[in-house]
Amino acid sequence: MTRQVSWIALIGTLMIVAGLGIAVVSESGRQTAASENLHTAMVADGADLYAQNCVACHGASGEGVASYPPLTTATAMDAQILYNTVERGRYNTAMAAFGVEEGGTLTGMQIESLVVMLQAETWDTIAARVAELGLTPPQIMVAEIPAETFALVEALPNGATLATGLTVYAENCVACHGANGEGSTLAPALNTDELRVRLSDSDIARIVQEGVPGTLMASWAGALEIVQQQAVVALVSDWGELNAAGIRLPMIESAPLDTSPEAIANGQRLFSLLCIQCHGIDGYGSRIAPALNNQTFLSQTPDAAIQQIIAGGVTGTNMPAWGGYLTDADIASITVYLRSLQPTAPIVAPPQP
Ligand code: HEC
Ligand code: HEC
Ligand code: HEC
Repeated sequence: MTRQVSWIALIGTLMIVAGLGIAVVSESGRQTAASENLHTAMVADGADLYAQNCVACHGASGEGVASYPPLTTATAMDAQILYNTVERGRYNTAMAAFGVEEGGTLTGMQIESLVVMLQAETWDTIAARVAELGLTPPQIMVAEIPAETFALVEALPNGATLATGLTVYAENCVACHGANGEGSTLAPALNTDELRVRLSDSDIARIVQEGVPGTLMASWAGALEIVQQQAVVALVSDWGELNAAGIRLPMIESAPLDTSPEAIANGQRLFSLLCIQCHGIDGYGSRIAPALNNQTFLSQTPDAAIQQIIAGGVTGTNMPAWGGYLTDADIASITVYLRSLQPTAPIVAPPQP
């Protein structure tokens, strides 16, 4: 692997040589052109792999989504460190191991393409390619706080802190925990008495600070300042006061399931881009993941449960949580696509290749 990465460095060197206009004898000119072509092909492969595996957290332009870090500084990082990070992941964080030998789906060659792409500083091109594939992540859902609601919160004991907490919450947490902490298919409720009994302030602070590895609950240490973290912890811990005062934010409606042929086609397209590497072509299953295209699964699993599994993933397995990444409409379209397979699905999953 060290050899492969130094080969990347060699390509880089050849590029620099080309850039400086040195050694323009025809033979080395041809070699330079060949390695430029290879470099371009690797960047293009890397862009597609990035769109399919990484935009969810690192953003279409490498800007970082919510609490996930940007990758725009990768040009300054060592190629070997980048390779190791993608292959092996970062222990106890949402950064999973993508290398096949570590249980992931990417080959050494594919990881190299990602590394070359990350170091090529072509984020405008990447963002355009991600958009072309229809994989630009949804805008993080943000709730509006009406002025009257804000004034009511400010009037409570500890109101200034709670108002800051509500602002932080509305900007960062509603997408998963719901407008009023009532929870959603993506994440548990935060506004319950049960939670306030089970978790002390310092437990809540630790969860916000460190996240819950292997779930959509990321660490907010990098994205929120300490005062913001403290304020949102105070909000969760004092939610009973808001409930008692009847303070509620406007609810966010979720869209009904669209079963049109266009939605099914969109679901099939997304399934082919994001799911077949594990669930096999047409969902027939593979060595890595179970068949979805079979009567047993489809007849026993209601639409809402399929959506919930896709959105939330299966903790402790390779099944990623797609919720922060795909829009609700996209998850619904994958669900109606899977449902459309039911009439022709085999009774039991066929043996996996
Ligand atoms: C589920 C979210 C998630 C996905 C998907 C993801 N990452 Fe990460 N990534 C993270 C987190 C969180 C970190 C920070 C880990 C830490 O604290 O060290 C990270 C860190 C990194 C780093 C190190 C950045 C640095 O400054 O040290 C690289 C490089 C990286 N990711 C590349 C990728 C690539 C390439 C992909 C796609 C193959 C990918 N990531 C997919 C969450 C994710
Ligand atoms: C992308 C979705 C997502 C976002 C955004 C998110 N969370 Fe979470 N959160 C989760 C999930 C999923 C869990 C459950 C983790 C587990 O299984 O233990 C969770 C758990 C928690 C818990 C522990 C709940 C319990 O009952 O143990 C707290 C507290 C919490 N989140 C606070 C926050 C705060 C505050 C924010 C905003 C700063 C936030 N979360 C943003 C997904 C999210
Ligand atoms: C990296 C591999 C991987 C990818 C990519 C992946 N899955 Fe999965 N998926 C799994 C694994 C492994 C399981 C089995 C989890 C378990 O043991 O419960 C699973 C389980 C599921 C289940 C539940 C199946 C059952 O029998 O209960 C559904 C539904 C599902 N995945 C849908 C999807 C969809 C839709 C996509 C694409 C958006 C996707 N998966 C992408 C690995 C993956």
